[in-house]
Amino acid sequence: MRPATSYESAGAVAAASMSGGAGGQLLEGKRLLVTGVVTRKSIAFGVARTAQLLGAEIVLTSFGRARRLTERAVRQLPYPVDVIELDVNEPRDFERLQDDVARRWGSIDGALHAIAFAPTEAMGGNFLNTSREDAELAFATSAYSLKSLTVALAPLMPPGGSVVALDFDGSRAWPTYDWMGVSKAALEAVGRYLARDLGPRGIRVNLVSCGPFRTLAASGVPAFDDLVETWTLRAPLGWDTDNPEIVAGPVCFLLSDLAAGISGEILHVDGGFNAIGATEGVRH
Ligand SMILES: NC(=O)c1ccc[n+]([C@@H]2O[C@H](COP(=O)([O-])OP(=O)(O)OC[C@H]3O[C@@H](n4cnc5c(N)ncnc54)[C@H](O)[C@@H]3O)[C@@H](O)[C@H]2O)c1
Repeated sequence: MRPATSYESAGAVAAASMSGGAGGQLLEGKRLLVTGVVTRKSIAFGVARTAQLLGAEIVLTSFGRARRLTERAVRQLPYPVDVIELDVNEPRDFERLQDDVARRWGSIDGALHAIAFAPTEAMGGNFLNTSREDAELAFATSAYSLKSLTVALAPLMPPGGSVVALDFDGSRAWPTYDWMGVSKAALEAVGRYLARDLGPRGIRVNLVSCGPFRTLAASGVPAFDDLVETWTLRAPLGWDTDNPEIVAGPVCFLLSDLAAGISGEILHVDGGFNAIGATEGVRH
């Protein structure tokens, strides 16, 4: 595969590399739900774009005031898509989502969970003083919601169904990430338990753990630039914070039948950062 050189090209390169041949396109015939598109820089936007290029039919979700931004962003997708209302903290929205998908398609093959939120009081080095309510809101929106989304869609998923969620390494403590970091650790555990309970029904659940990107959600992470600097220095492949589309190919792979034997996994798309203990000759 030739290297992707820009934000624009990464998904297209992935799509070109995974399509054609006797098997047709990687996601041909798949019906997928993609959450988390709010701008063109959203990681989920790259996934939606690449999934369409790989032959999938998709529907998006958004909520409240963000919906206007989502509808503007989706005009840049290769093919038109509908946007369904989903606030993951509104149980009724999951009932309506299930009804909508059942009416629209009858069944669904996969979904991307690309949703996270923490109140400002729950990040920024205020870990010891964060209130229970703020920590709970971060957990509910960013981790419990993976369970809610999966349970809403599972009855419509035939064997071979696949759910993927976006993660930031929850196995260690990061500067300022605080209760969002705890929520990501919880998300990883939620993924494993869903994989355990839905595996017997042929449904797979996996996470993709990414390096840092300059998205709307990231703008709420204090000292994000320090994290980026560390990442750029340590990742053996280097790291481009403006290229979220680099995540799209691995997500589409996990949504595809090529990944039929993979569940409960955390796939790192981080330039190799997680494999490296320290950077030679650099003082921080
Ligand atoms: N940007 C990064 O550096 C980075 C790195 C690793 C993982 N991630 C993860 O990727 C995912 C997508 O984030 P992004 O960086 O693309 O940012 P983004 O701001 O583009 O997307 C975040 C999405 O979460 C949605 N959301 C927030 N609260 C919600 C709610 N109550 N109900 C429904 N949707 C809600 C927003 O509408 C938005 O679409 C998140 O889980 C994030 O933690 C991001």
